[in-house]
Amino acid sequence: MSQGNSSPKRYTVTSALPYANGPSHIGHLAGAYLPADIYVRYLRSRGEDVVYVCGSDEHGTSINIKAVAEGTTPQAVVDKYHAIIRDAFAAFNISFDIFSRTSHQVHHDTAQEFFNKFHAEGKFIEKTSEQLYDEEKNMFLADRFVVGTCPNCGYEEAYGNQCENCGKDLSPTELINPRSKVSGSTPVMKATTHWYLPLNDYQEWLEDYILKGHEKDWKVNVFGQCKSWLQDGLQPRAITRDMEWGVKVPVEGGEGKVLYVWFDAPIGYISATKEWAEANGKDWKPYWQDEDTALIHFIGKDNIVFHCIIFPAILKGHGDFIIPQNVPANEFLNLEGRKISTSKNWAIWMHEFAERYPEQIDALRYVLTAIMPETKDAEFTWSEYKSRVDNELVATFANFVNRVKVLSLKNFEGVPARAELSAEEQAIVQEVHAGVAEVGDAIQAYRFREALNAVMKVARLGDKYLSDREPWHLVKQDKAAAGHVLNFGLNIAAVLATVSEPFMPDTSLKIFQMLGIDPLKWTDLEGFDFVAAGQPLENIPHLFKKIDPKMVEQEIERLHASQTAAEEAPAEEVAEVPPFKEETSFDDFQQMDIRVGTILEASRVPKADRLLQFQVDTGHDQRTIVSGVAKFFEPEELVGKQVLVLANLKPRKIRGVVSQGMILFAEDGEGNLHLVNPEYIVQAGSSVN
Ligand code: 2FM
Ligand code: ZN
Repeated sequence: MSQGNSSPKRYTVTSALPYANGPSHIGHLAGAYLPADIYVRYLRSRGEDVVYVCGSDEHGTSINIKAVAEGTTPQAVVDKYHAIIRDAFAAFNISFDIFSRTSHQVHHDTAQEFFNKFHAEGKFIEKTSEQLYDEEKNMFLADRFVVGTCPNCGYEEAYGNQCENCGKDLSPTELINPRSKVSGSTPVMKATTHWYLPLNDYQEWLEDYILKGHEKDWKVNVFGQCKSWLQDGLQPRAITRDMEWGVKVPVEGGEGKVLYVWFDAPIGYISATKEWAEANGKDWKPYWQDEDTALIHFIGKDNIVFHCIIFPAILKGHGDFIIPQNVPANEFLNLEGRKISTSKNWAIWMHEFAERYPEQIDALRYVLTAIMPETKDAEFTWSEYKSRVDNELVATFANFVNRVKVLSLKNFEGVPARAELSAEEQAIVQEVHAGVAEVGDAIQAYRFREALNAVMKVARLGDKYLSDREPWHLVKQDKAAAGHVLNFGLNIAAVLATVSEPFMPDTSLKIFQMLGIDPLKWTDLEGFDFVAAGQPLENIPHLFKKIDPKMVEQEIERLHASQTAAEEAPAEEVAEVPPFKEETSFDDFQQMDIRVGTILEASRVPKADRLLQFQVDTGHDQRTIVSGVAKFFEPEELVGKQVLVLANLKPRKIRGVVSQGMILFAEDGEGNLHLVNPEYIVQAGSSVN
């Protein structure tokens, strides 16, 4: 298996195929595209053989639903959004080798080949069940095409799969007074046969692959979700649907049916690779079938099960394919204190940002990387955007490059000459090289925030060197000595341009343009002679500008204004926070033993709607804790999370389960609970005081 291979011969890197049912926003960018782009740019700079594929996901009910909402056809929907998404990614310099579409023929052929092979080898099961059918439109109704009254709360517009009012998961048959969203008529039950992928047949193999194979190298959040799915036991999953829009089921009995979108979409990665290979005179096979290839999927956390369990099972079941070596899923990005929401228009759309601020693409890439939701949800605010651009990009990064450029251009013809390096300078060179290694190591470990910090370390080394040597004064007394300092600074700038390329590709190019040299690669960064004395330098504009406070104001206003009226109210209202409790003594407080714990398992407590039950690693032991938080969290989303635990609370029996301690949550003025945890993962058992 490929997962053990630490020095692969080539890499196949994918980013989740976005649904072509709406534009992409900065949450998508920070989740699955920016990290992948940084990763592949780094690999390319190292001279690795890598293909980076993506494309739009053009099937599934979400496309039909959008077509109904926009009063148009599914084809018109996917054509429109494919173009918007593709162009937005291009504007952000996401360097896909191909951005394909699952509507392409090669994809339909590839997905059908997979289906046919499984079918011919008897690797599916067929099952007949009763489903809701619209007799007026002669069609089976997908879950979200049925609305009715929620049996739980009485809400009259509940969907067939979920009530958006009370959040309860539903099946269409549970709805009271169901009606078809397509015709308005009352649906009837009708028998239909579908093909199922018996995931249970792959249970043991998946346990070996993930639980034994990837405990150490997969991210805690990813591993935790997989573990929880596997513990619940895998069930057969229907991989066909009664629909017109999609990849047709290619066998007898498949009339009027298409492949389930989550069966065909990940195969889209393979189809896209075939298309890329065909266009570039390459062979696609090694990228998917050679054990020496590392297959890496970048996704958001909502896609974990599909990429870690279902797709690997499909690849394994087929037999000719490698399986993912890593799936470095990110958590979610919130925006100005709330969840990003397409329906509530609470988002920063990539294509709109690119249109309004084309000169700020790298600045946004930088800030999104600096706050990337790698281990937990993160938040984007316009004020932080401004302060990071002003204080980090302008004051340090651009300031350094600008100073060395201006002084060289003003006082010298091209790159000034350098003398022997002093011991102190040699030590700085070593630090610069250590910084380069740190950036690379962190990228390879999918720690992009840390990698960006290391880039900034190099910029600060350069900036500090200039501040210490003051070439602007020196040049008046000893021009040659000032030239030496500037030569040294220009060489640091060359290194900085190279290591910042994965993060800020346009900026990197501008620095190389200023230096008058071809862009360097990671593999060129040996020694410290990147620019030759006498070689001409070019004057380039300042790399970054401070953010106008008006921009921050306008963007926040725009966000509020663009929301639909229905969702406006809660924004301004500040709910009341409870009054303080009575004074307590330090000694009393010291009695509480509060520790950082890691949630290993989470599940619902049977017959207790409010309760979740956790297995928590406290550093000393693994224990059971019961909390009344079922209304606020899905059990899976908490697995792998760190929490604060009141560890010396007397055990209590709650609904028959002994709870050993208490997990601390923050409660807002509206009674909603929120997770409280350390900014970075710390050792379980760390004390809190
Ligand atoms: O969640 C989504 O947006 C899906 N369209 C992702 C698909 S990823 C891959 F499997 F195609
Ligand atoms: Zn309800």
